[in-house]
Amino acid sequence: MNFKITLLPGDGIGPEVVGEAVRVLETVAAKYKHTFNFQERLMGGCSIDKYGSSLTDETLADCKASDSVLLGAVGGPKWDDPKAKDRPERGLLALRKGLGVFANLRPVKVHPSLVDVSPLKPEKLKGVDILVIRELTGGLYFGQPKMREIKDGHERAVDTLEYYDHEIRRIVNLAFELAKGRRKKVTSVDKANVLESSRLWRQVATQIGNENPDVELEHTLVDTASMKLITAPASFDVVVTENMFGDILTDEASVLAGSMGMLPSASLGEAGVGLFEPIHGSAPDIAGTGIANPIGTILSSAMMLRHSFKLESEACAIEDAVYRTITDGARTADLGGKLTTRQMTDEIIKRIEEN
Ligand code: IPM
Ligand code: MG
Repeated sequence: MNFKITLLPGDGIGPEVVGEAVRVLETVAAKYKHTFNFQERLMGGCSIDKYGSSLTDETLADCKASDSVLLGAVGGPKWDDPKAKDRPERGLLALRKGLGVFANLRPVKVHPSLVDVSPLKPEKLKGVDILVIRELTGGLYFGQPKMREIKDGHERAVDTLEYYDHEIRRIVNLAFELAKGRRKKVTSVDKANVLESSRLWRQVATQIGNENPDVELEHTLVDTASMKLITAPASFDVVVTENMFGDILTDEASVLAGSMGMLPSASLGEAGVGLFEPIHGSAPDIAGTGIANPIGTILSSAMMLRHSFKLESEACAIEDAVYRTITDGARTADLGGKLTTRQMTDEIIKRIEEN
């Protein structure tokens, strides 16, 4: 089959890890006789430098006109001026909103041979297999008003945490659907003891729970959830939560997997184009040194094959190869090893080809 993929490598280590994922996708294309047509565009800081905008209308239109989007990372100290009119992160948020990808799936699994890389006790990590579903186009990141002003002689800043019932319903419904193919448990994370938006979230989640009696629903406050992620991570199956809660909890959850560099994500909407990106950032401190872990992006490309292209065997071929590569002891620096980004990918490619 034939697919058109827009690449948005972005900033920092983004271009390095996306380049490696492309090599993996080309390996899959050759082996399974597909054609992936790649088109590369600028987004983030690099787009500010070239076009004066972190996401141009043309780039968004090109993304919408493709079958799928693979993104590296955006941001870096060069564009960190708090007074700047545009920021790399704005481009990312505008892209997510523009594509309508409201559901961000962030699977967190612990590879048995990486148990020692995580700072947690090995017995806590046994059986950890969590799917965090982060709401991605609403909540605190997008609510209006969002502004700064001088009021009564003081500088004042406002962000708004806002949700409509239909925004909550569609994401919690997805959580229940996905839980049915897993261990049939949904943990809805909110702050209903304080926030009105969370009380609506809990009300909608409870309704959906009643409509799906075959799935266990548990409500957990976000502060408690952050503690339980460390003390009892294996107790979670599917976790569904507000945009910023999900951002914070998934960085925390990545510690379970040994490194942020391991974790992929898929952002999906009702239909249309999916957006696939590792959960890690642009890591400016190691950009250009060739030591970044490419696995988060490579596993994101596997999620692209599964969710956007319905190529389940091909997705599994990548995931199996990554699994075996780690089992065989291949390690980049973040995992305590010495392999470069390219060497790690070579190991994965070899195992896809051999299989
Ligand atoms: C993520 C990142 C982004 C987010 C930043 C770069 C805007 O932290 O994808 O988790 O907060 O969503
Ligand atoms: Mg984040």
